[in-house]
Amino acid sequence: MTYPAHVTIVEVGPRDGFQVEPVFIPTEFKIEVVNAVARAGVAKIETSSFVSPRFVPQLADAAEVFAGLDRRPNTRYTALVPNLKGAERALEAGADGVRLVVTSTETYNRKNVGMSVDESLAVCRRILEWVEGEPMAVEAVIALAFGCPFEGPVGEDRVAELAHRFVDMGVRELSIADSVGLGNPNRVAATMTRLRTELPEIAFSLHLHDTRGLGLANVVAALQVGIDTFDASIGGLGGCPVFPNGAGNIATEDLANLCEEMGISTGIDIEAVQAISGKMQAFLQRQLPSRVLLAGTPGQLYAKIRKESG
Ligand code: COA
Ligand code: ZN
Repeated sequence: MTYPAHVTIVEVGPRDGFQVEPVFIPTEFKIEVVNAVARAGVAKIETSSFVSPRFVPQLADAAEVFAGLDRRPNTRYTALVPNLKGAERALEAGADGVRLVVTSTETYNRKNVGMSVDESLAVCRRILEWVEGEPMAVEAVIALAFGCPFEGPVGEDRVAELAHRFVDMGVRELSIADSVGLGNPNRVAATMTRLRTELPEIAFSLHLHDTRGLGLANVVAALQVGIDTFDASIGGLGGCPVFPNGAGNIATEDLANLCEEMGISTGIDIEAVQAISGKMQAFLQRQLPSRVLLAGTPGQLYAKIRKESG
């Protein structure tokens, strides 16, 4: 089996994770988390979203978070945006890039952004035209790429159709999102193989939620078909404001540990990620789903045994 030599991990906890937390996370702490994740070696961080503050009050401070960052030159700080107003706010705040999101099903897209899928795609096209010449990268997310909690399974044809529509309007980076965790290794491998075959010039990444414990299994299946970029969140934070029964993203430290154990580099200091996840866990006063946060890395276990045996 061949695996990529290097995997890029995109931290999405400060957006996907924070957005569903009912208790307001102070802006200073949000900034501390993003800075810590950047220092730990994560090269791209979805730092917040520029959405309606009425819809997601937790992220109403997105501009303040961007303004307070201790920016590192090789880290890209991005944001999710649902419309042109969000893109304008992101540019003004100094985001390096934005993610535009369209959901594969009409019901969910309407609940999420109040628009039909075609209307959302038209909005994305306008944003791509508007952003030309601006120092801000644009990528797109196809959400609910494997199934929808309102409409049922989503077929590969639908995902491929949306991918082609994004590519036709000029998108070159596409995130395929299993937003509520309905994918499995076979479907992930089949979908990603098809997309890479039909659109070889596009940089694909995967966004996986661990609702049924299949998150890392899906990662391995994707690695086997050549996918080398994955979203993850510290501690396994994450969820969905439209469907509260979902689970978090795969945890950044679990994904980095998986890669390390398989001989795949990530450039990430796992212990530094554990430290900030632990701090987040203490703030939220509940056990976060990350396995490595709970159990430690194998290296930490062996060091403990060596110390105890003396
Ligand atoms: N940032 C801040 N405010 C925004 C905004 C943005 N990107 N887009 C719209 N607004 C404001 C408008 O100015 C308006 O404010 P007002 O009532 O004070 O005049 C209000 O929100 C309603 O605007 P409208 O265009 O009618 O939007 P809507 O009520 O249909 O909501 C979205 C549409 C897209 C703004 C909203 O559904 C949303 O923010 N969704 C994000 C969902 C999300 O984050 N999901 C998780 C990630 S996938
Ligand atoms: Zn998500």
